[in-house]
Amino acid sequence: METTNTQLLAGKICLVTGASRGIGYETAAGLARLGAHVIIVSQSHERAMDAQQRINAELGKDAARYYVADLSVQAQVNQLAQDITHDYNRLDVLVNNVGGWFRKYNESADGIEMTFALNHLSYFLLTGRLLPLLQQGSPARIINVSSDAHRQPKGIRFDDIHFKQQYRVFSAYAQSKLANVLFTYELARRLEGTDLTVNAIHPGFVKSQLYRHFGLMTPLVNLLADLFGKNAVEGAQTSIYLASSPEVAGITGKYFSDCEPQDSSPASYDISQAKQLWELSEEMTGFTYSI
Ligand SMILES: NC(=O)c1ccc[n+]([C@@H]2O[C@H](COP(=O)([O-])OP(=O)(O)OC[C@H]3O[C@@H](n4cnc5c(N)ncnc54)[C@H](OP(=O)(O)O)[C@@H]3O)[C@@H](O)[C@H]2O)c1
Repeated sequence: METTNTQLLAGKICLVTGASRGIGYETAAGLARLGAHVIIVSQSHERAMDAQQRINAELGKDAARYYVADLSVQAQVNQLAQDITHDYNRLDVLVNNVGGWFRKYNESADGIEMTFALNHLSYFLLTGRLLPLLQQGSPARIINVSSDAHRQPKGIRFDDIHFKQQYRVFSAYAQSKLANVLFTYELARRLEGTDLTVNAIHPGFVKSQLYRHFGLMTPLVNLLADLFGKNAVEGAQTSIYLASSPEVAGITGKYFSDCEPQDSSPASYDISQAKQLWELSEEMTGFTYSI
């Protein structure tokens, strides 16, 4: 379902992380085509600027503005939130889309396993830091881009969150995507009674740069994505739908795929895991939510 009403998001401010390419770029471009002003975040200055230029060339010079931050680095997430808060007086939509796949064990600048740092903790910290701005924009919407890969783990490995005992790339990725859903549901519970909604999505199997780190499997996965997958425009549609459609106003704490609510994995509904993950995330980021 491709949304086409060019006025649907007129006057709205939407931030999309990981928006220099892939699903994030098409989400930002799609939101801009609905009339929003979009804030693009990526770690690469050149690619973020190029994304801004492409959107502005199509939609006008104020349609998009880019910021550069390595979102695996907590100091840069904090700085980004500070800059956005300085430059804008409200935010209507936050799409936490950034994600990575790390073939070898790798630590962030904060000494945290890279997949967990980028795919989960950046969502947790950026959302918390931008919450006051989202409250100014309310009714505001938060969308966390997860994946059906979240269905693989039976729970979060609290006894070895960094996968130090034995690193497995798919398990680390799948755990981070389960963390996205647990975080979404816990945040929705904490925001109950407010004008802020938060939902998680699976974009589908989408041909993108995510698979470039699959090593020898990369050509095969790309071929499968060509044959059976979606392109990035199609992969962006569920995020765009949740960010913009009047049909989902007030809907919160759900998991969506193909613009439809779906059941997520049994592990994702475990409230005690969600609370434990929340506390761990506060500890690992040094940031405490005031809700
Ligand atoms: N592709 C799929 O089949 C699929 C399936 C399920 C879920 N997903 C999820 O969809 C989301 C988007 O994935 P994609 O396939 O579009 O990936 P992608 O093509 O690899 O794009 C990733 C985006 O994140 C940015 N990025 C990467 N590392 C960053 C960092 N440290 N700091 C800031 N920005 C960073 C990249 O920007 P620069 O490198 O230019 O900075 C790029 O804009 C991810 O959360 C992924 O887990 C994808």
